[in-house]
Amino acid sequence: MKRIVVLVSGGGTNLQALIDAQNRGEITRGRITCVISSNPNAYALERAAKNGIETEVIRRRDFADFDEYDSALTALLKAKNADLVVLAGFMTILGSQVINAFENRIINIHPALIPSFCGEGYYGLRVHEEALKKGVKVTGATAHFVNEICDGGPIILQKAVEVLDGDTPEVLQKRVMEQAEWKILPKAVALFCEDKIKVTDNKTVILK
Ligand code: GAR
Repeated sequence: MKRIVVLVSGGGTNLQALIDAQNRGEITRGRITCVISSNPNAYALERAAKNGIETEVIRRRDFADFDEYDSALTALLKAKNADLVVLAGFMTILGSQVINAFENRIINIHPALIPSFCGEGYYGLRVHEEALKKGVKVTGATAHFVNEICDGGPIILQKAVEVLDGDTPEVLQKRVMEQAEWKILPKAVALFCEDKIKVTDNKTVILK
């Protein structure tokens, strides 16, 4: 059983999708052992507690500089014996220590079809505002491994979602979550736990 540690900052609907998938028996080779939040008031923490999952809080502003924060988060993840780290709406950039310690073992869910609407500054509702501003007809979500390039790591799964006339960023965000994020994130986690994701040259192959 792989130990899955989920990093959150907000509402935690993607965490909920993971918990639901686990409860339905869809994540056969792993289990969520800890939820770590960058925000002590995140509703995601309540979702974890309701499901009997251990929680921790680590705030960037409690550390003198970014390196110290990076070391502390790395140490915490190691102390939790994480086999897989999942960023489920985690709004703090990861440092090189965490990224190197967990190479190809950190999965992020991004609310767009990478390489569109991604990189620094593209997070949460901002992503959907930009997609609507551009007038794209199709957007979606991407589950990918995290490397040193923001939203630049190997892509695991993507799912497209239609943009409809009259969409607001909020309406589009909800559709992307329901139709794409909540489906592909649990799927990517299940595949990882089954050792079915092979990474070569910054690309992945899903093994049968
Ligand atoms: C989700 O839409 C997730 O894709 C996005 O934040 C939201 C978190 O919602 N993440 C990013 O933008 C990361 N760049 P949640 O807390 O309800 O899962």
